[in-house]
Amino acid sequence: MPLRNRHLLGLEGMPKEDIQLILDTTTSFREVLDRPIKKVPTLQGKTIVNLFFEPSTRTRISFELAERRLSADVVNFSADVSSLRKGETLKDTARNIEVMKVDMVVMRHAAVGASHFLSTVVNANVINAGDGTHEHPTQALLDLYTIREKLGKIEGLNVCIVGDISHSRVALSNIFGFKTMGAHVAVCGPRTLIPREIEKLGVQVFCNLDDAIRDADVLNVLRIQLERQDRSLFPSIREYRQYYGITRERLKKANKQIIIMHPGPINRDVELSADVADSEHSLILQQVLNGVAVRMAILYLLGTGK
Ligand code: CP
Repeated sequence: MPLRNRHLLGLEGMPKEDIQLILDTTTSFREVLDRPIKKVPTLQGKTIVNLFFEPSTRTRISFELAERRLSADVVNFSADVSSLRKGETLKDTARNIEVMKVDMVVMRHAAVGASHFLSTVVNANVINAGDGTHEHPTQALLDLYTIREKLGKIEGLNVCIVGDISHSRVALSNIFGFKTMGAHVAVCGPRTLIPREIEKLGVQVFCNLDDAIRDADVLNVLRIQLERQDRSLFPSIREYRQYYGITRERLKKANKQIIIMHPGPINRDVELSADVADSEHSLILQQVLNGVAVRMAILYLLGTGK
């Protein structure tokens, strides 16, 4: 069965079978990345545009590598040097790009719903590479894949997302993805960084990190997004680190061998101590590696309709 939707805009409402299909397809492409020649002809003749309106290191490089490893023709669009600076709208920009026979568009944008809007004005397949504080579906899919690869399952695991939940698109996509796949999901952070009524999404809320760590299998640690906060939501970085920073000392309180994930970029020694980030607990670089294979799988499934 192909994916139900011809765009990947978010994980909210995505059926379990579709997530399963993406994760299973990723395994084949993960193997391609270990070959001496890491390239397959799967998307030969397809043209993909990467529209990034916000900064990115991992997602942008990962998509471009995935596209080139599938033999697609790739165009990178930079908002800074485009006609957007002359007042052109997103709709006009997208439609002008599309008439040049583009098959797929990958977009990161600061506005919530930007990729959904794009999918209503172009015929190309649209992939959301992060829309404001809403969703970052490919990040959550690579997180799911990395956990499944490491622990052999997702169902029944205790996954806790720690940090700035309110400003995080990764948090929301993780909640939808991990819950659909049968994990118990919790969030932990200062109450000022946790959206009101988040319990309605079926997640447990911890404000005490030691309580959150005690029975967790996985901690997905998020960056404090100072650039998205329009007022100070906690007293100081020093105090945040004291109450919510993940350190070796804190991890000793866990009842299990705990896995640490982080979508990056890391504020070392703020949300995560440098030694934990580089420790045997950490899957952070494995997440980045798997991100290329997950994006190859998504591009293949959407680009070929298989
Ligand atoms: N994880 C993630 O989205 O990182 P970038 O912002 O560097 O793409």
